[in-house]
Amino acid sequence: MPTSMCAGSNPLLANLSGYSSLLGVWSSISGGAWKKGLPVKSLYQYELLISLVKEFGFFLAQEFFWWNPARLPTPAEWVTVRRIRVKDAVNTIWWLAKTPYPKASNKRVLQPYSESMRTLLKNGYKPKRRPSGHDISDKFGRDNGGAIPPNLIALANTESNSAYHRYCKEHGIPEHPAKYPVLLPAFFIQMLTDPGDMVVDPFGGSLATGEAAELLERRWVCIEKDPEYIRGGLGRFEYANPDEQRRLFSRQRDPYKIFAPNLIPTRSLEPLSEDGGSNGRRKKV
Ligand SMILES: C[S@@+](CC[C@H](N)C(=O)[O-])C[C@H]1O[C@@H](n2cnc3c(N)ncnc32)[C@H](O)[C@@H]1O
Repeated sequence: MPTSMCAGSNPLLANLSGYSSLLGVWSSISGGAWKKGLPVKSLYQYELLISLVKEFGFFLAQEFFWWNPARLPTPAEWVTVRRIRVKDAVNTIWWLAKTPYPKASNKRVLQPYSESMRTLLKNGYKPKRRPSGHDISDKFGRDNGGAIPPNLIALANTESNSAYHRYCKEHGIPEHPAKYPVLLPAFFIQMLTDPGDMVVDPFGGSLATGEAAELLERRWVCIEKDPEYIRGGLGRFEYANPDEQRRLFSRQRDPYKIFAPNLIPTRSLEPLSEDGGSNGRRKKV
């Protein structure tokens, strides 16, 4: 059985039990994860997850969080108008599998070492017991070609000069409103499949998964109900540019930065509103 996967956001996943890994991307890109008109989140993704595990026999291999550092402060009403929630900048990705051991290797998705780790590798490391009680052996100082990534994928959704973008612009095709950056499916394709394996995305949209699979020499199938999105997605292949594709996987990208919490003192701020913001006024548009 080839290792395959799909990216999507509804129970069609349950019909794809023949594949060894399934990925469900629950995105708030299009704002769907919030209850309409309320500052509370929908539990749909958790209900679906529990049903897939309990009723359909999947295992939750791991959950991932895709953080989009370029995400605008949304939902605007709760975040920028009433100021009662923070930016919803993380999407959840469930990695499900039919066995507890789907094929996978984190060696495929190593990240560049941090500055401090590079210094340590250069100067050597003395094995010792950490304050946490963990014994760090001399293997810690070995260069493994990169660091094991966390399950937080930091990736801006700002491919504004891609083949897809240029093609849509030139052909007057509207861009997909919820397209993913190609490096997102590429991460999972690298970690969970081998060249030649089949990658299936039943919610293909702008064919970002197809492009990632093509670049990584996997076979792929994308299914999409809106022909206009497919028409735009074909530009990814028609306007493909090898230099651009090489740059996509280049190490030259700057890492993203996120601050520790509570770095700005709050003592002079007004007290919290007892009504939780329910009487806040909507901004006139
Ligand atoms: C979040 S978007 C996927 C975006 C895609 N990953 C990309 O990067 O462009 C979900 C897509 O699923 C499509 N879709 C929803 N229900 C579908 C169905 N039953 N069959 C096929 N496509 C469907 C929608 O039209 C939409 O384009």
